[in-house]
Amino acid sequence: MHIAFEKGLSEILHYQKRSSKEMAQIKNIGVLTSGGDSPGMNAAIRAVVRTAVYYDFEVTGIRRGYEGLIKGEFFPMDRKSVSNIIQRGGTILKTARSEQFRTVEGRKQAYEQLQKGNVDALITIGGDGTFRGAETFGREFNFPIIALPGTIDNDLIGTDFTIGYDTAINTAIEAIDKIRDTAESHARLFIVEVMGRDSGLIAIRTGIGAGAEAVLIPDTSSNMEALFDRLKYGRKDKSSRIVMVAEGEEPGTAIEIGQVIKEKFPDYDTRVSVLGHIQRGGRPSCMDRVLASRLGVAAVEALKDGHYNEMIGLVHDQITYTPLEKSIKHHITINPEFLKVVEILSL
Ligand code: F6P
Repeated sequence: MHIAFEKGLSEILHYQKRSSKEMAQIKNIGVLTSGGDSPGMNAAIRAVVRTAVYYDFEVTGIRRGYEGLIKGEFFPMDRKSVSNIIQRGGTILKTARSEQFRTVEGRKQAYEQLQKGNVDALITIGGDGTFRGAETFGREFNFPIIALPGTIDNDLIGTDFTIGYDTAINTAIEAIDKIRDTAESHARLFIVEVMGRDSGLIAIRTGIGAGAEAVLIPDTSSNMEALFDRLKYGRKDKSSRIVMVAEGEEPGTAIEIGQVIKEKFPDYDTRVSVLGHIQRGGRPSCMDRVLASRLGVAAVEALKDGHYNEMIGLVHDQITYTPLEKSIKHHITINPEFLKVVEILSL
């Protein structure tokens, strides 16, 4: 579920809109990470800072996402501020989910802090909540913003992959392989919940990669019945079964689904495992480091070339620019081919 940002444009119209000339005269670029952290955010920060230095921009680090932006938690960054971070999970800039930035008053304060700190463009790294904030703020103040997709969920339009997704699915797969060992030894059915509040993309890939019996995701409502049929009429000689569930309200949490299965199928020895936030931590994979580095370079170059209020992504291995407005409006849906693969291979 997305919470809409307040509009309240009339209240802030007294702020001078930036002219195209001002837009072109960017000297100091602010960088922040916001929302849930994802592995590779540090590699993205490093790429942004180093590229900005390369092109003679000043760089201002902003701590704790939009919260820090409102409070003016700014500090200068240079080439050395980002040494030895490419391999680290989390974000050296820290992150937060800001309620205040959803309000007109909060965004006004943020704008004033940017003026005070002489920051004239922003690069924000985060997921759809971050993009909503960026889109609203950029539109209200005509402030140049470039966003980078940093979320384990991979649920943003305009990029094939988001920074952190590859690491997260590999972390999940490693955990599920371990669960499979114990499932196999005890001939059990495991319901495994992975992250992805509004999207089943982590669940579907890890489900295929882990050889799951079924994948229950918010995007398709009928697969619960298909699972019941399979447990009722399908092969009984399997020595272990893994059912993947994406967190979220639909089709229910792994614990709820586990409860239903235990009641309907008492013959199955059923257990539930919720992987949780381990999926967000750890050293980023090489794919995430390279993606973050390429997008970070492209973000600074985009500002230099006059792009603003766009998300930089990678589609078919090419850098792409998607208006923020577009990237937040659409919801990623699961390719039905993925579901077919699960079904055929779980015979
Ligand atoms: O960052 C995305 C995400 O990990 C989602 O998959 C998950 O639903 C959410 O963040 C959890 O957020 P929190 O950090 O508030 O627990």
